[in-house]
Amino acid sequence: MSLRFRLICLIAIVLIASLAVEGTIVSFNASRSVQTEMNSALQVGKQIVKSGLAQLPDSTDRRRDLETLVAAFEGNRHLRVSLTGGGAAAVKPSPEGSHFGTVPRWFVRFLGITPVAARVPITIEGQDYGSIVIETDPANEILEVWNDLGDGFSVLALFFGLNILLIYVFIGRVLRPLDHLGLALKQIGHGDYKTRIGGNTVPELARLQCSFNRMASELMEMDEEKRRLNEQLLTLQEEERGEIARDLHDEISPFLFAINVDLAGIARLADQGRSAEIARQTRSALDSVSHIQRQIRTMLGRLRPGVLADFGLAAAIMSMVEFWQRRHPGIHFKVSLPPDAASFGALIDITIYRIVQESLSNAVRHGDPAEILVSVTSVPADGPEPDRVTIEVTNDGHGMDKTAGFGFGLTGMQERVQALGGRLDLMREPEHGLSVTATLPFPAASTQVRAASFAGDA
Ligand SMILES: Nc1ncnc2c1ncn2[C@@H]1O[C@H](COP(=O)(O)OP(=O)(O)OP(=O)(O)O)[C@@H](O)[C@H]1O
Ligand SMILES: [Mg+2]
Repeated sequence: MSLRFRLICLIAIVLIASLAVEGTIVSFNASRSVQTEMNSALQVGKQIVKSGLAQLPDSTDRRRDLETLVAAFEGNRHLRVSLTGGGAAAVKPSPEGSHFGTVPRWFVRFLGITPVAARVPITIEGQDYGSIVIETDPANEILEVWNDLGDGFSVLALFFGLNILLIYVFIGRVLRPLDHLGLALKQIGHGDYKTRIGGNTVPELARLQCSFNRMASELMEMDEEKRRLNEQLLTLQEEERGEIARDLHDEISPFLFAINVDLAGIARLADQGRSAEIARQTRSALDSVSHIQRQIRTMLGRLRPGVLADFGLAAAIMSMVEFWQRRHPGIHFKVSLPPDAASFGALIDITIYRIVQESLSNAVRHGDPAEILVSVTSVPADGPEPDRVTIEVTNDGHGMDKTAGFGFGLTGMQERVQALGGRLDLMREPEHGLSVTATLPFPAASTQVRAASFAGDA
C-alpha cells in the first residue's frame, strides 16, 4: 500500500471518528432539549384544558363546548388531544403512532425520547363527561433535529472531502521528489553518475536532494579518479616494460656478447695451449657474469618488491636509490637505513618501501632538488607510545605548491599509513623543499640504525 494511500486512510479514519463523536454529542443534546420541550408543552396543554373546563358549568351546550376545546388543539405541533368516554383508562401515546416523515426508525430509537401523556377527567355537577387525553408528539421536533443534523453533516462531509482531496494532492506533490530520488538512485546504480535531482520542494526533502547530488558528484569524481588510475597504471606498465627492454638491451646484451667472445677466445687459446691468457680471458668473462647478476638484481628490486624478502628492506631501498641516482647523477642522495637484515615485518617493510618509492619519485619529478635525504629510523617504545618506525624523505627542491592537492601517490601513501594506524606529515614550505614523514607503530623489537651516505657523483 502506498504511503500516500495510507496517509489518506489515516486522515479519513480520524475525520470519520470525529464526525461520529460530533453526531453523538449533538444528538444527545437534541434529545434532552426535545424531551424538555415536550414536558413543558404538556404542562401548557394541561393548563389550557383546565381553564377551558372551568368555564363548562356555565355552558348551555357542554358537549359542544368540550368538542370545541379539544378541536382548538388541532394543528398543534407538540400535542395531540382527544376526548374519550367516561371511565376510559389513561391513554399512553407511542412514537410509533406518530408521523416521523423521512426520519429513520433507528434515529428515533437512538434519541430515546419518552412520550408522555396526561388524562384530565371531566365531571361537572356529578355528571361524568369522560376524559380529555393529552399526548405529546415529538415527531416534528425529531424531524427538525434530523434535518439540522443532515444539513450539518452535509457541510462537514463536504469540508472533509475537500480536505482529503487537498491533502491527497499536496502529499502527491510533496512526495514526487521521492519518486525522482528513487529513479535517480536506480540510474546511479547503473553507473550513470551524472544523474542529479533538481526542482523546488519542502526543506526536508531539499536537504535530501542536496545530499544525493553531493554523493553523485563524489561518486563521479571517484569514478573519474579510478579511470585516471587505470590509465596511469597502463602507462606505468608500458614505461616499466620499456625500461626493462632498455636495460636488457643496454646492460645485459653487450655483456652476454662479451661473454660469448671471451668463451670463444678461451676455446681458441686452449687449442693453442696458451694457458696464461686463458686465465685472463676467464676473469673477463666472470666480470661480465657478475655485472649481469648485479643488473638483474637491480631490475628485480624495481620490478618486484618481493625482493624485500630475498634481499631485505635496506638492500631494496638502496637498489631503488641507485636506480634514481643513475638517471639523475646531479642529485646527491643521503641514505640512513636499518642494518641489512633488519625487518619490521612483511607488511610494514612493504609499506616503508612504497613510501620511499613514491616520495623519491615525487621529489625527482616535481621538486628539482640538489639533495635528497632518505632515512628509516626505529624509535623504541616510550610511555604509552609503542615501538615505531619513522620514514623521512626530504628534498631541498622548490617545494610543494600551496595550491597543489593530493594525487594518487600521496593519497595512496596516506591510506597505507592510516591502514597501519600510523600518521603522515608533509612539511611543505615553498622554496624550502618538501619533507615527507611517516610514522608507523610496529610490534617488533627496535632495530639498530646504521647510517650510510650515498653520492652518485662521488
Ligand atoms: N617533492 C615534491 N616537491 C614538490 N611538489 C610535490 C612533491 N611531492 C608532491 N608534490 C606535489 O603534490 C602533488 C601531488 O602528488 P602526488 O604524488 O599525490 O600526485 P602526482 O605525483 O602528481 O601523481 P601520481 O598520482 O603519479 O603520484 C604533485 O602533483 C605535486 O604538485
Ligand atoms: Mg606522485
